[in-house]
Amino acid sequence: MSKLLRGIVLAGGTGSRLYPLTKVTNKHLLPVGQYPMIYHPLMRLREAGIERVAVVTSPEHMGDVVNLLGSGQALGLDLTYRVQDQPGGIAQALGLCENFAGGHPFLVALGDNILEDNLIKEADIFRAQNTGARILLKAVHDPERYGVPRFEGDKVVEIKEKPEIPPSKYAVTGLYFYDAQVFDFIRTLSPSRRGEYEVSDLNSAYVHRSKLTYGILEGWWGDAGTLEGWHEANKLARDLVYDELNSQEPMAS
Ligand code: G1P
Repeated sequence: MSKLLRGIVLAGGTGSRLYPLTKVTNKHLLPVGQYPMIYHPLMRLREAGIERVAVVTSPEHMGDVVNLLGSGQALGLDLTYRVQDQPGGIAQALGLCENFAGGHPFLVALGDNILEDNLIKEADIFRAQNTGARILLKAVHDPERYGVPRFEGDKVVEIKEKPEIPPSKYAVTGLYFYDAQVFDFIRTLSPSRRGEYEVSDLNSAYVHRSKLTYGILEGWWGDAGTLEGWHEANKLARDLVYDELNSQEPMAS
């Protein structure tokens, strides 16, 4: 198995939808189940054999994030940090990681996405695919909150960000595999109506070139970025443990 896949965890943004929980802390440091939220995507990457990971966060919260994660050694990771000066969207945050990716393909995980499935099989599929992009979908009851794919047959032909009338019942989850061409696509993007560089536009660039594949998550999945989503994620992840972390004892005081 190739070890070349790298990882990027995006932990920026203002967390305004969780205010005042996020008044003095970054949303990704709030508890979800037994861990700080950001541990969940980090451990899913590690399980999938991805050890070199860049974490992107805002200047205000970089100190706290580094205090929590350090070099990554205790989590079995080799971490790099990038600062997103202004919250300008997922695609903008990703654009900061071009040197980190160094031409390698990678898996991006949004820091507030919590999932039951491991990503081992999906990472292997993308390693074999080796080029283009791969997204992971999940059927949800409220697709209008997310990026939503439109299908013709079983082919994704379009991805719409938070559409009023969703063209399918699927959410595009915050787990994305890309090849290094993604950075060329990022340079062509313009901000959306909400003033952000949208990941859905990035995925659409791959759709238009017939270079996007998708998988469907089997277990539960949640975006903990809203109050409702955060409560739901806490219920779902209550008993979720990562063996690698359980072996660590807290330091004696
Ligand atoms: C973001 C993406 C959206 C995706 C979602 C998954 O939404 O823009 O396409 O479906 O993450 O969590 P946001 O968190 O900005 O509402």
